[in-house]
Amino acid sequence: DLLSRMEGDMPEDRADFLRRLQGCTRCDLHANATQAVPGEGPHDAPLMVVGEQPGDQEDLQGRPFVGPAGQLFDRLADEAGFDRGGAYVTNAVKHFKFQPRGKRRIHQRPDMGEITACRWWLDIERQMIRPRLILAMGATAVGSLTGTGAGILKRRGTIEATEDGTPVFITLHPSYLLRVPDASAKEAAMQDFRSDLAAAQAHL
Ligand code: URA
Repeated sequence: DLLSRMEGDMPEDRADFLRRLQGCTRCDLHANATQAVPGEGPHDAPLMVVGEQPGDQEDLQGRPFVGPAGQLFDRLADEAGFDRGGAYVTNAVKHFKFQPRGKRRIHQRPDMGEITACRWWLDIERQMIRPRLILAMGATAVGSLTGTGAGILKRRGTIEATEDGTPVFITLHPSYLLRVPDASAKEAAMQDFRSDLAAAQAHL
C-alpha cells in the first residue's frame, strides 16, 4: 500500500518535507522554476484538493492557487458554501512548467513523466494528511490519482478511487472555466463546478 511504498522515505515532519521538496530533482522542471510549491492547509483536513501545477503567481509566491485560477476557485468555493480553509490544497506537479515568451511565462501542461515523477510528493502528502476524500480538479490531477485523465468531461461529478482506495471526486480545473469563450456556457460550467464542490463537501 501507500505506506509500504514510502516506508523509510517518509519525511520526519513538515519541515523535513519542505526541505526535501525544495531539493527535488526527480524531473527537470526544478531547473527553470523559482521554487517548488508545497500544498497548504490543515494536516487533519478531511478533504484534499489537487490541482495541476503552480502557475506564474504560485511559482513566485510559493503558495498554491493564489493566481487567477485560485481566485476563481476561492470565489466559486465561497458561493458554493465550500470550506477551502478546512481543506489541504495542493497540486499533482510541484514545479511550474512554462515557455518564456518575451517577459511572459506561458503555462505548459506537464507530461506523463513529470506527473509520474511528482506523484512521489503527492503520495507523501496523502500519507501525511490521510484525507477522507480527494477533490481532483482537471485531467492532470485525475490522471495522477486514478491512472488516467482521459474523458474527464464525462467523468466529472463522479467518484472514483486511488489504487489504495481513497475516494476521488472528479471535477474540471478552474482555469478551464476561465477559458470557456461563450458567456452562457461559461456560467453553466461555473454552476456545474459549484455543484461539484457542494457535492464533494456533502460526501465528507
Ligand atoms: N492552477 C493549479 O492547478 N494549481 C495552482 O496552484 C494554480 C493554478
